[in-house]
Amino acid sequence: MDRHQAWLLLNSHMKNQNLLRHCLAVEAVMRGLAKLFGEDEDSWGIAGLVHDADYELTKDDPSNHVVTVVSWLREKGVDEKIIHAVFAHGWKFVDGCPQPQSTMEWSLYCCDELTGLIVAVALVRPDKKLSSVTAESVMRKWKTTSFAAGVDRSQIELCQEKLGIKLEDFIGVALKSMQFISKDLGL
Ligand SMILES: [Fe+2]
Ligand SMILES: [Fe+2]
Repeated sequence: MDRHQAWLLLNSHMKNQNLLRHCLAVEAVMRGLAKLFGEDEDSWGIAGLVHDADYELTKDDPSNHVVTVVSWLREKGVDEKIIHAVFAHGWKFVDGCPQPQSTMEWSLYCCDELTGLIVAVALVRPDKKLSSVTAESVMRKWKTTSFAAGVDRSQIELCQEKLGIKLEDFIGVALKSMQFISKDLGL
């Protein structure tokens, strides 16, 4: 599956613009992390792009989230590394999803929620722009647990233990990656 095919698959199942933007943000961060770790940017990016492709379809029955997109990817014969990363992003949320193991799998798991926190920080800047956000400003909001309270910080924090990267640096890479596609994110 190339990037174009991944984008078509996503768009055939997802219409909500905010959800599409979430997928684009996760794709961008996965590419940034792949670069950081010297891994394959294209396959990491595709995993990020399609990870929630079934989200809209399964929103009334979240127990089918992840397993549905995994079955689509299997049908298409997608690289197992991509499938595993997508599968493991449901760990602890969806029954049957395995715990992430590889760097790629942990990267997706840890950055998923972080993209939402970064968007939330941008939206409270006066200009609502990602360019006005810094890693420091995200860290300040990180400590305010009432801010974007739905963002599970413990999931993001696992980057330190599982990826060996400091939280501030993880946020920095994610922010830079999202700033790179800020137009596509409408921020
Ligand atoms: Fe998900
Ligand atoms: Fe997600």
